[in-house]
Amino acid sequence: MDSEQGRSGDCPFSQLRADIPLASQYIYLNSCTFGPVLRSVQRSMADALRVENEEIIAIRGKEAGERFYERAEKARQSAAELLGVAAADVAWVYNTTTATRLAIMSVDWQAGDKLAVTDVEHLSTHRAARGLAQGRGVEVTVIPTAEPHEGTYRGPGYFLNRLDKMLTPAHRLLVISHVSNIDGRRLPVVEATRLARSRGVKTLVDGAQSVGMFGVDAKEIGAEFFSGSVHKWLMGPPGIGFLVVSDEGKRDYNPFQLPLPTGAGGRPDGSQMAAGALSELGTQNYALRIGAGACVETAQGIGLEKIEEQCRSLTERLRAGLHCVPGIRVASPELWEHSSSVTTVQLQDGTPGRCLELVGRLLAEYQIVVKYRPEICGVRIGVAAFNTAEEVEQLLSALGHLAPQV
Ligand SMILES: Cc1ncc(COP(=O)(O)O)c(C=O)c1O
Repeated sequence: MDSEQGRSGDCPFSQLRADIPLASQYIYLNSCTFGPVLRSVQRSMADALRVENEEIIAIRGKEAGERFYERAEKARQSAAELLGVAAADVAWVYNTTTATRLAIMSVDWQAGDKLAVTDVEHLSTHRAARGLAQGRGVEVTVIPTAEPHEGTYRGPGYFLNRLDKMLTPAHRLLVISHVSNIDGRRLPVVEATRLARSRGVKTLVDGAQSVGMFGVDAKEIGAEFFSGSVHKWLMGPPGIGFLVVSDEGKRDYNPFQLPLPTGAGGRPDGSQMAAGALSELGTQNYALRIGAGACVETAQGIGLEKIEEQCRSLTERLRAGLHCVPGIRVASPELWEHSSSVTTVQLQDGTPGRCLELVGRLLAEYQIVVKYRPEICGVRIGVAAFNTAEEVEQLLSALGHLAPQV
């Protein structure tokens, strides 16, 4: 056990922390952008690359090769278990943006069709929506998630009411984040999906900020599509994400819009192909998949309930402390049920320049890593399961010193 482990005490999280070299140099509170890639995951990928290159490629198809590809395929099974779905529903893709685009591209958009997105979607989704509007004449409806004059999210009531009023059968897809990357608000994805289904509208849930932070059951959510990646809360490698396609979604899922041949490789009449077979083209990066499987299995080994509990208790401690820091306002929803371990704070009379100075000085003077969020002129703090109560206290103390100075 190293000194970091000794300090954090609690067993599964101290082991997790010991697997993160970065944690001994920085107070890393930016897993909402990139989680640090676990050292054990880095090792499993390096080993997979070595095995593939030194033992497998010359004898592809032989027993050793088959074992290797089975190992890679096991990662899909692990991801499926994490998400509560079947392996045949999981397609590997590059990242959440690509997964989301594949789902959007699988709709045969015609001029006059409508796309609904919430007002707190990731920039990449808003960009895709703008492209559809400009290039295909699709009408984009932006559903507000909170009262305009309040700004702060106070729970699902207002949003579900607006969704009920604004979503029509002319909409072909609703895109909704499970957890917003702006201020960590947690949206009512089960109810929204149900409402959309009742209007004949498909739903894509963007799980980039939820998967790995708390248990996610994509089957229970019931959306046709669920996208995400492993490089944030799961602390896996960048460059690999997933799209879950439900049986309902698979019916006419054909993201590349090319006619599928019948027979081998095509979609035989009446039956459904696996999401992977419809999405993954050509030679794949198996080392990345094995890395993705390794980080998923680490999270499963600890247990998502325990991870959530740890994130929750650190976040509650953080928010209680933030309320006592003069000049700082918590912009994220107060209740855990309506939020997550993402907390965004605003400075009193804050400007982008002051927020950026705060982020820069936290790093330079205190080795604390957080991120500026331009959408609400705030500073975003992401507390992960490997963080400690001591780190939260150090952040609060640093904010107490810096907030009046910037
Ligand atoms: C909610 C949400 N959606 C999508 C993305 C884009 O993710 P990726 O970089 O995996 O494409 C992010 C990244 O921050 C995000 O937070």
